[in-house]
Amino acid sequence: MYAVEMKDIIKRFGSFTANNGITLLVKKGEIHCLLGENGAGKSTLMNILFGLYRQDSGEIRINGKSVENHSPLAASRMGLGMVHQHFMLVDALSVWENVVVGLEPGGFRIDRKESIRKVQELSDRYHFELNAEEQVGNLSVGMKQRVEILKTVYRGAEIIIMDEPTAVLSPPEVEQFLMILRDMRADGKTIIFITHKLKETLAVADRITVLRAGKSVSTIEAGNASARELAGMMVGHEVDLEIERPFNEAGGAVLSVEGLRLLPNAASTVSFDIREGEIFGIAGVEGNGQKQLEEMIMGLIKCREGRISVLGKDVTKLGTRKRRQLGIGYIPSDRLNRALLSSFSLEDNYLLGKQFSDNYVRHGIVRHKAVKEAAGTLMREYDVRAAGMDQAAGSLSGGNQQKLVVGREASDEPKLIIACQPVRGLDIGAIHYIHEILLKLRKEGKAILLISAELTDIQQLSDRIAVLYKGEILAARKNEDFTEEEIGLLIAGHREAV
Ligand SMILES: Nc1ncnc2c1ncn2[C@@H]1O[C@H](COP(=O)(O)OP(=O)(O)OP(=O)(O)O)[C@@H](O)[C@H]1O
Ligand SMILES: [Mg+2]
Repeated sequence: MYAVEMKDIIKRFGSFTANNGITLLVKKGEIHCLLGENGAGKSTLMNILFGLYRQDSGEIRINGKSVENHSPLAASRMGLGMVHQHFMLVDALSVWENVVVGLEPGGFRIDRKESIRKVQELSDRYHFELNAEEQVGNLSVGMKQRVEILKTVYRGAEIIIMDEPTAVLSPPEVEQFLMILRDMRADGKTIIFITHKLKETLAVADRITVLRAGKSVSTIEAGNASARELAGMMVGHEVDLEIERPFNEAGGAVLSVEGLRLLPNAASTVSFDIREGEIFGIAGVEGNGQKQLEEMIMGLIKCREGRISVLGKDVTKLGTRKRRQLGIGYIPSDRLNRALLSSFSLEDNYLLGKQFSDNYVRHGIVRHKAVKEAAGTLMREYDVRAAGMDQAAGSLSGGNQQKLVVGREASDEPKLIIACQPVRGLDIGAIHYIHEILLKLRKEGKAILLISAELTDIQQLSDRIAVLYKGEILAARKNEDFTEEEIGLLIAGHREAV
């Protein structure tokens, strides 16, 4: 018996066909992984299933019952739940309030005690380790995600759609999350799980459906699958994802950080230099001062202790714009809020951060022709796939958004590039592509600070690696001088072990 049957789904956006006759059959009680490159049509298909978008044609059945023109509310009533990547929680409210609120129709009284009991019981059943009365604002990203899952389960969801839930989680959180999926499956839930990580897919999936360019390639049993084969199905040909980091002579210091206090209670401050033609990687679980480091270097938050200089110039007191004018390209970790204006066109997004440059704006007037030309060149060079320059940046697939940002920040000859979580949410091909770009920039002599929660990124790209833990650098060495095990131990805070 199928929990979900989607047949020949077609969905167009203007002249672009995002879903081009997709069929997806999900069995009751299975974990079904949905794979595909950025832009393959996964989120579109799930938004259709959940009633957020309407398909142009094709049939949908939920538990054997045909559904048409359904709203998300109707989908919820049929036992469907969706966990979005952007959480929809109220920080000032407690866990149980977030779970229960919005559910009771107006005028109903909420029985506080009973609600807390019910929410706690559900949390315990799936080993969520949440306290129903804790305020949501105090929770880590991973814990907030559990609240989102709890919301769907509390509302009676039997079929749960999760669109890239692991993209925001640290490696240990991912492990716990996969355990939760298994617990939910054991409890009879049906799960549709979207991820770009083949390792996660192979660890939990019962069956896997691969999409490519808006079509379903095939559905296979996970037991018979290998990462190589899946990658091939996603991309459409054999993939070679090896990357080489040839020797590169480093030049003079471009960025110098001295005695910076990242977290108020850090045991010590951090200091390092990054030189021309060098990639300096910051390894560690997010939340250990990465965000503070990023924001202090860019002048987005004040640094109360320590000094930052770029090319010998003290920038500690300068604002973001002045710093950028010294030649800093910035790839922010928060792509949607810091790097792009989602509802603006690609052309306008290209201009972001360059609005003070004479090349594009003169006497306060935007030189549209010049912007268009430069943006067009960038889109070709960096392989940004879009319907046209007028498309809103927010409707590009994640990979294409990131290529746009990286391309924009690498143009106009920066001396220093601050690359934060540059491959988050990207498919394997796009990751490879961004890696190549970063290595190319290194070869051109740019100094690159790479902050990434992905250890493979750090290891493949960095000349030197520093491990950040609770706001402190536990060790900084040449890449070759670390073993993988040592980095793992340091990331977990075991400084004595190495
Ligand atoms: N509202 C929209 N308007 C125009 N095009 C859209 C819209 N939503 C999606 N698209 C396009 O449809 C294609 C499929 O997008 P979708 O978000 O479904 O991809 P995805 O498989 O989820 O990719 P990712 O892995 O990057 O999340 C993309 O090329 C995207 O640009
Ligand atoms: Mg998506």
